[in-house]
Amino acid sequence: MTTPSATPSATRQRVLTGDTPTGRLHLGHYVGSLENRLRMQDQYDCYFLLANMHAFTTRADKPDDIRADTIEIVKDWLAVGIDPDRSTVVLQTEVPAIAELTWFFAMLIPFNRVMRNPTLKTEIDTKGLGDTYPFGFPMYAVGQCADILAFRPVYIPVGEDQVAHIEMCREVARRFNQVYCNVNPKTEDEDYPKAGGVFPIPQAMVGKIGRLVGTDGVNKMSKSLNNAIFLSDTPKEVVKKVGKIFTGRQSPTEPGDTTNALFQFVDAFIKDEARVAELKRRYAAGDNIGDGHVKQELAENINALLEPMRQRRAEYEKPGGDDLVIDIIREGTKRANVVAEQTLAMAKDAMRIGFFGRELGLR
Ligand code: TRP
Repeated sequence: MTTPSATPSATRQRVLTGDTPTGRLHLGHYVGSLENRLRMQDQYDCYFLLANMHAFTTRADKPDDIRADTIEIVKDWLAVGIDPDRSTVVLQTEVPAIAELTWFFAMLIPFNRVMRNPTLKTEIDTKGLGDTYPFGFPMYAVGQCADILAFRPVYIPVGEDQVAHIEMCREVARRFNQVYCNVNPKTEDEDYPKAGGVFPIPQAMVGKIGRLVGTDGVNKMSKSLNNAIFLSDTPKEVVKKVGKIFTGRQSPTEPGDTTNALFQFVDAFIKDEARVAELKRRYAAGDNIGDGHVKQELAENINALLEPMRQRRAEYEKPGGDDLVIDIIREGTKRANVVAEQTLAMAKDAMRIGFFGRELGLR
């Protein structure tokens, strides 16, 4: 095997997470997961997966959109501060071990268990998939176990909506270790590798706000519900969208509810705690403070957060930017395959199908 320029770190524990390229990332992604990813880049060997195969589970007829969204998500990542020198960007469809592990894991999880996965059920409802979704749609939940376990990570930074998937992944990991590595089912989760398991039992790590409300003040922030503030929105768009956050409050002297949608945003995006306390005190008392004023301050703070992202993103929006992005994906995927192939070989040995190594006979 050739040694890639940056070899995977032997000392740092691994972290894996991913996004499905179905559109631009928004503030909900930021507080739910991206912020944690940024924090983890130094301490952990981080892998960020472009789950482009998963995008085909609901948009198989839109390959051009999926391709464009894949590039866009990397631009969002780079804009936020994901650093390709420290972290590894991975393209799912060029990591064959993921597809292979998906098959292995599909044998270890009952069909009905997959269909009971609450995140899948919610998606079927909110995306209006009815009963015409493809076989591959529920399959993606099994695929996600493989995305994760291919990297044998300890943590998975995700928003709250993903926790059900991570729970399934943990079940699959335990089961694999019990069935093929003779690990005693009574083993504590953290002791599986020590007990001879191929896979650690990874933990979800949910951000400071696992479920950010949308600008409609009711639903979770979501691209498809038209209530999202995107990381790539212009300053004007931010002001306009913040202006629309619904509270129902009538006047600056009406005692306000400081747990309403507006203040959920204030808590999430105004960093100055003393200022937040002051705003809350006056708002609760109806001390001549209008929603408009709070919104203006909130929009300023959100724009201050997004400004450096806009600047970093601009670098990749120049001509040739897509090529830079593709290079980053290629380099990252190469590194990722080193780890994933190693995992696959370990899994095959455990399953007694490791008769010989990969021999594709290409050369
Ligand atoms: N399903 C995740 C989402 O829609 C994306 C994803 C794919 C993922 N594979 C993953 C997240 C592995 C964490 C780990 O956001």
